Amino acid sequence: MSFEYTLKKKCKDTKARLGELSTPHGKIETPIFMPVGTKATVKTMTPEELKEINSQIILSNTYHLYLRPGHDLIAEAGGLHKFMNWDRPILTDSGGFQVFSLSDMNKISEEGVEFKSHIDGSKHFISPEKSIEIQTALGADIMMAFDECPPYPADRDYVKKSLEMTTRWLERCIEAKTRDDQALFGIMQGGMYKDLREESAKQIVEFDLPGYAIGGLSVGEPKELMIEVLDYAPDFLPENKPRYLMGVGTPFDLFEGVMRGIDMFDCVFPTRVARNGMVFTSQGRVTVRNATYERDFSPLDQDCDCYVCQNYTRAYIRHLIKQNEILGVRLTTYHNLHFLLDMMENIRKAIAEDRFLEYRADFYEKYGLEV
Ligand code: GUN
Ligand code: ZN
Repeated sequence: MSFEYTLKKKCKDTKARLGELSTPHGKIETPIFMPVGTKATVKTMTPEELKEINSQIILSNTYHLYLRPGHDLIAEAGGLHKFMNWDRPILTDSGGFQVFSLSDMNKISEEGVEFKSHIDGSKHFISPEKSIEIQTALGADIMMAFDECPPYPADRDYVKKSLEMTTRWLERCIEAKTRDDQALFGIMQGGMYKDLREESAKQIVEFDLPGYAIGGLSVGEPKELMIEVLDYAPDFLPENKPRYLMGVGTPFDLFEGVMRGIDMFDCVFPTRVARNGMVFTSQGRVTVRNATYERDFSPLDQDCDCYVCQNYTRAYIRHLIKQNEILGVRLTTYHNLHFLLDMMENIRKAIAEDRFLEYRADFYEKYGLEV
């Protein structure tokens, strides 16, 4: 089974690229944003609604699904696609990030990571082999390598040793992989150190994988520092393979990532803030929960053609959210995902028509430079 990436066009002014990645569940047009469905659901959204707003691929998490309901149960259901009724591509993260960010305790060794569940404190051990075993049972189109994501800040010596272990873990992931209808992406680490990013890239590119990710960013570093790393890191990866920037996804991040050569993004940001009553609009972010909108009978975004903006007002949605009515967060989530997916579609169009920088400037002029 092939996971062919076709580079269709390069932007004449920036490093932005237009591409297509084929998977067993269909083609993905890149650059793309992947909504996050951590526990086998993009919170509040049915698969039909995700399709309505043109989600091409979603992401799910090994760590959470391993703990609850367990990968064996999902395999018994016929795999994650069947279990959650989603027939388009899925990417699963390896757990190599969540064990560090979510678990109550973790002990890292060459063998793997021992940790305590954030749910009930039970003890578990995930190794590269275990991560692939879980991801094989889940059956996503794209599996991610089990990696160590160092915290920020971290000293050079630690980051160097860590990225070398991540490479050895990648080799073990490749060894453990059994299904040829699943692709495995490697993950570049190296923290905020240019030479270490280059070294990590060199090591993982050796394995000639169908795609590569940039990990270890958006871990608490200043935004300017992340941009600095993005100025050089994507260039260390092969041009003819998709590049995925993990865990990054404000509108600003997406524009800045795309113009530095990134093809895939995921982030909980749009869905998480939606549940707090914050929405993206063409004029910038709006916290529709605020009293300012009590009698605002206009849509969330004047310029949006989504189902929510065609049918509901800020005043109504504010009321729902204030009353903890479930529909409120359903509507804000739907609109935010539509907003980002629509923006990515516009970005792809702009690249195709040689006006990416123009579109970016127009967007920023109205939206502002909120990072
Ligand atoms: N999600 C966000 N950053 C990372 C990372 O560095 N590694 C993994 N596996 N997932 C991530
Ligand atoms: Zn809308």
